[in-house]
Amino acid sequence: MITVENGVYHLKTKHYSYLFRINDQNVPEHLHFGAPLLTSDADALACKPGLGWGTAVLLEEGNTKSCLNAIPLEWSGSGRGDFRETPVELCDAATDFRFESSRIVTGSVPMRSGLPQARNGLHTLELVLAQGDVKLRLYYTTFETVLVRRAVLENSSAHPLAFSKLMSFCVDLPGSYEMTSFHGTWSAEMRLHRQKVTGGKVVNETTMGSSSNNHHPGFFLSEPGATEQNGNVYGFNLIYSANHYASVQQSYQGLTRVMQGINPANFRKTLAPGEAFETPEAVLCWSGEGFGGMSGHFHDFVNRHIVPEAWQFRDRPVLYNDWEGCMFDFNQARLLDLAKRAKRLGCELFVLDDGWFGDRNHDKAGLGDYNVNKKKLPGGMDGLANKITELGMQFGLWFEPEAVNPDSELFRAHPDWALTDEFEPLYCRHELLLDLTKPEVRDYIVENVSRVLDSAKISYVKWDMNRPTVAVGTKVHDYILGLYEVLRRIFEPRPEILLEGCSSGGNRFDLGMLCFSPQIWCSDDTDPIERLTIQENLSYLYPQSTFGAHVSAAPHAQTLRNTPLTTRGNVSFFGCLGYELDLKHLLSVEETEIKAQVAFYKEHRRIFQYGTFRRLSDGEKTVWQVSDGQTHITGLFHKLVHAAPGYERLRVVGLDKNRVYHVVSREQSLRIGLFGELIKHVAPVSLSPHGVVLRTVDHRMTMPDGGEDFTASGSALNTGVMLKPLFGGGGYTTDQRTQGDFGSNVYLIKEVPLHEGTEHKK
Ligand code: GLA
Repeated sequence: MITVENGVYHLKTKHYSYLFRINDQNVPEHLHFGAPLLTSDADALACKPGLGWGTAVLLEEGNTKSCLNAIPLEWSGSGRGDFRETPVELCDAATDFRFESSRIVTGSVPMRSGLPQARNGLHTLELVLAQGDVKLRLYYTTFETVLVRRAVLENSSAHPLAFSKLMSFCVDLPGSYEMTSFHGTWSAEMRLHRQKVTGGKVVNETTMGSSSNNHHPGFFLSEPGATEQNGNVYGFNLIYSANHYASVQQSYQGLTRVMQGINPANFRKTLAPGEAFETPEAVLCWSGEGFGGMSGHFHDFVNRHIVPEAWQFRDRPVLYNDWEGCMFDFNQARLLDLAKRAKRLGCELFVLDDGWFGDRNHDKAGLGDYNVNKKKLPGGMDGLANKITELGMQFGLWFEPEAVNPDSELFRAHPDWALTDEFEPLYCRHELLLDLTKPEVRDYIVENVSRVLDSAKISYVKWDMNRPTVAVGTKVHDYILGLYEVLRRIFEPRPEILLEGCSSGGNRFDLGMLCFSPQIWCSDDTDPIERLTIQENLSYLYPQSTFGAHVSAAPHAQTLRNTPLTTRGNVSFFGCLGYELDLKHLLSVEETEIKAQVAFYKEHRRIFQYGTFRRLSDGEKTVWQVSDGQTHITGLFHKLVHAAPGYERLRVVGLDKNRVYHVVSREQSLRIGLFGELIKHVAPVSLSPHGVVLRTVDHRMTMPDGGEDFTASGSALNTGVMLKPLFGGGGYTTDQRTQGDFGSNVYLIKEVPLHEGTEHKK
């Protein structure tokens, strides 16, 4: 509901209230964003500047309430007495936009610029501010758990209007906050940083041309002391995939200014008379229930209003991707062999990654071309796709349509299609980007990708993009508009194709891409221990249904870490499960383990992909829980173990305290080779740890690891129940968890039907 009474605007849902008022100077003054409350609270919430502060510039002489620098605002300008950062900059002019009119409509107001938009808003407020003939339209769309804002600058004057900055929103929140943001690099995405926002300004921005693995657009402001379950937390994110910018600045008076939008670095646009410019939508979220509550709101929003409708709450297939197993070295026979093996393991979708077109036998050639490499695939794409679908699997294909190698037919024919500037071209992974601001380039991509998609039974596409842009500012924005157009033209007529975004892993994991691709490849780093960090930190902003999470080989390609297969599976369960390793080298014990993993995942796929996700990690171990109300699954992951480990408890949250639950651990087994020379303590005969006998046994047989199977009340589980001890030396028994470094378990917690259990009455 959105109401306006006596100049007070109240945007209200079940979860939050957002209030501001138009003050006597026609300036929109922010009042509250947080717990639902009454419109009549406006006066109580408003800032009271009293006699004001010295050197204050007043819009109205003698009225301290008109000091723009000292009151919380919904928007601001420059050169008019507010010396905090401005959300809008006109070239060579001050900005002073004042309230003109407003309207409230049911639903969302469609965007006009081709930017992606959150679907099915509840209500929208359009607030029109004006400075002479220039209008600024601020849009506020309510969704049950979040508020979405954007701005449109409209030149209604008779002269061109140049501007260099336009944020999607600006707001001043009373209070002091800590800022949590996510930074990283290739294969080390989403490292969490927390810092106090004090005087001065904290900026989170990228100029890489993508939302980037360097500085993720989503961030939080939390009251000091906020935890996973408690405290006020604000979350912000942008529905945009290119250069973003956000700043947070605390004023002396204790107001925290937040703004987010397109990065103004090198940005400049001139609007002809009658033209308008629209910003991307920004998402604002509040929770009084800590970081966990805030993530729940974001997850709900992404699942309901961001991912394409055709894929909303739809099961994601267990896939096999040939990349880490084959790289460029494959032919049809090898792929079919892998597909048969993947099918036996239970995989539902076979994905052919890079290397199927042109002269793409390495990463120095072929990008830009779409002719199927007949040496590798003599039956063409449809020949391969038919054979795979005959096996009872779906077939998917990799593309990198935005890029071109100089060694390609396309580049030889159209060198001017590459995105370059007046300098020498700068290569990254031996490629250049295509200039998606050119209509002929967009047509080429749409025609060629569509042709391939229609030439064979293809039900999944991995859309990759493997380099930063070297263009700047406005060009980058126009490029991303070009990309959105291309994605719309290819995939809107083909809604059944499951699109997975990718950009050297997570270089473009953002809400803009999620509007087209229901899932995104989180990182090229598939090391499960690294993935604990990457997936946990992505979970602050995005639901598990959006994470491409694959089991790969050990020792791992990026870390050399040798993580047990059980843990590799257990980590990947908490996302969209896939396998990405050479299946030919699997031992029979590994095949057995993978079959069990896939079967377990399929049985609980809804909960893993769409259940309520909770972070229960402590400094020592990572703990994740997913729940659908009746069934709960907890993953408990260790990193480095210590000698003489102490007790460990399992804590399950969100249970009915009066009900009884059955707790059972997913069955796990131990590789005999794990014990090396220690085998002498249990083997009846002396065996060489390096000998053929032990190796043969290791490849074929496993030993059961200590599991759990008990019932307990919701109350006890919420308190924490004791688990079997971890291995601490002294031998093997199923009464312990015989796990070394990087061990893990997954526990299934199910309500016991009432007639079987005892109900505890208060
Ligand atoms: C990128 C992707 C990988 C893989 C390769 C293929 O690095 O992130 O998953 O598709 O490209 O070249």
